[in-house]
Amino acid sequence: MDPLDITNKDRLLEMLAQRRKGQARLIDEREMNAALKQRVQGQDHIVNDLCRFIRLQWGKEQRSKPIANLLFVGPPATGKTELAKAITEYLFDDEKQMLRFDCSEFSGAEGKTRLIGTPTGYVGAGQGGQLTRPMFSNPRRLVLFDEIEKAYAGVFDLLLSLMGEGRLTEQGSGKVADFTQAIIVLTSNAENETIGRLAEQIDDPVELDSAVRSVLKEAGTFRPEIISRFDHIYVFKPLDEATRARIAGIKIARAGAEYGVTIEHIAPEIVFDILTVGEEAQDARELVRLVDSKLGELLLQARERGYESISITLDEGGKPQIVPVERQA
Ligand SMILES: Nc1ncnc2c1ncn2[C@@H]1O[C@H](COP(=O)(O)OP(=O)(O)OP(=O)(O)O)[C@@H](O)[C@H]1O
Ligand SMILES: [Mg+2]
Repeated sequence: MDPLDITNKDRLLEMLAQRRKGQARLIDEREMNAALKQRVQGQDHIVNDLCRFIRLQWGKEQRSKPIANLLFVGPPATGKTELAKAITEYLFDDEKQMLRFDCSEFSGAEGKTRLIGTPTGYVGAGQGGQLTRPMFSNPRRLVLFDEIEKAYAGVFDLLLSLMGEGRLTEQGSGKVADFTQAIIVLTSNAENETIGRLAEQIDDPVELDSAVRSVLKEAGTFRPEIISRFDHIYVFKPLDEATRARIAGIKIARAGAEYGVTIEHIAPEIVFDILTVGEEAQDARELVRLVDSKLGELLLQARERGYESISITLDEGGKPQIVPVERQA
């Protein structure tokens, strides 16, 4: 006899399934906030607002549009893609669930068919679209469209439907891709200078959001109906010195992890060096390259010697060296 025959088994299992659904649906805003800030430095104003918004949308039982349609603007290498990846990792368990499209590659008329497939009767009709296919296999994703101002007009029509109704019909198969469980992030470099000046003057995020909408509308970058589909426009700030230092710390720890080595301590002079050399480039991407070129050799040495934990100090001649750190048992 099934031990559950003493109860209304079906009802009990249904109740458990319901609870599981409910738990999966809700977001712990504080936890999400902390997780994103661990990866994305110096953009707290964005992370705070974004977590609140996504938690509210995520908690809805029914949705007729994507969880969020967000526009990220701001200078290069300030964390836009990094934040998109962090959101994906937190909400959808793996950064790889992010689907990324570089819209500069979709500036021609064929962009539309590449995204949603070729109509029936044409060559390649069975293949499906680069955007629709992955959504069929997993609709719980973040979809990132970089530099959308470069996209072909027909691609904007797709974006309108995607952001508005949360659905797109694949050409050829006629199947409908569902975006109501997805987060849509678009990035743009249009009017970056004007927006940068505004960001210096306006602190309030809501006020800044509407000022940026006006700029984009007046410049004619996007059609008004596209602009009105953005739930939020987030303006990323240039990174200050302390933020760059913290990013260097993250990159150093990650470089260690890549070689299977925990870096317990590193001489400040070495980090100072990396930061000041990278300063000329003013680009956080340069930091990654510098960390690799300055520390790669040492980290490999540590690995070759079988050290699990190390300290990176300066020798008498001022050159970086590794010292193994004994872990307390
Ligand atoms: N605010 C930040 N916090 C943590 N890491 C950052 C930040 N900004 C940039 N980085 C690091 O610098 C590199 C480039 O950042 P990212 O790809 O997010 O730039 P982006 O804002 O998307 O720039 P672009 O407009 O050129 O696409 C990444 O390795 C990222 O980890
Ligand atoms: Mg980017």
